[in-house]
Amino acid sequence: MVRNMFDAISPRYDMVNRIMTFRLDVRWRRRAVRDLALPTGSTVLDLAAGTGDLCIDLARAGLLPISMDLSFGMLFHDRSGAPRAQADILNLPVPHASVDGIICGFALRNLVDLDQFFAECARAIRPGGRIALLDVGVPHNPLIRFGNNIYFGKIVPKIGALLSDGAAYRYLPKSVAYLPDRTVLVQKLRDAGFSDATHTQLSGGLTQLMVGTRNP
Ligand SMILES: C[S@@+](CC[C@H](N)C(=O)[O-])C[C@H]1O[C@@H](n2cnc3c(N)ncnc32)[C@H](O)[C@@H]1O
Repeated sequence: MVRNMFDAISPRYDMVNRIMTFRLDVRWRRRAVRDLALPTGSTVLDLAAGTGDLCIDLARAGLLPISMDLSFGMLFHDRSGAPRAQADILNLPVPHASVDGIICGFALRNLVDLDQFFAECARAIRPGGRIALLDVGVPHNPLIRFGNNIYFGKIVPKIGALLSDGAAYRYLPKSVAYLPDRTVLVQKLRDAGFSDATHTQLSGGLTQLMVGTRNP
């Protein structure tokens, strides 16, 4: 279902993202790459890379991105020039401790097994390597949360229906409900092997960013 949905929305995915986030998504991705804080030349998997926006930012930061996604449509519309592989990120097609870092943008809530995903990330990243995970959040301030619920519940689906696929943009805002609370997410990351994992709210909690270092 997830793969078919992203195949369907892939041709206009970037444009709809920019419009519905007022380009804040660009800023969030750059922050994730900055907080990944890896040295130039590091190899980084961009998991659930979609059309490759994070790969572009990684390359600009002097890193070597490799894109992986389940949706052939999303990979087809990738303009980053990074090497691409169609793969299920719950079973990464890479050897143990083979990459310096992993980044993943706005995909956690689509995954059927977060524990398996974190375990796979811990397996693939070398000791001392880094992880950065971005996803939509639930603002803690009740006023911002109220506005956010109206915007994502009522307006985003209309923008999506007008420019792309209405069903997908009704599902996407709702899918945030599949994400555990931030304390649970951070604990899962720590348990998986990133014991210094931290959580930051971006733009008042519209988006959340988790980063961590693979234990030695
Ligand atoms: C909302 S898009 C995010 C794309 C990109 N990371 C970004 O920042 O714009 C979510 C992506 O996750 C991918 N995805 C969902 N489940 C996946 C899985 N199990 N394995 C690989 N990719 C997956 C979808 O195909 C889609 O491209």
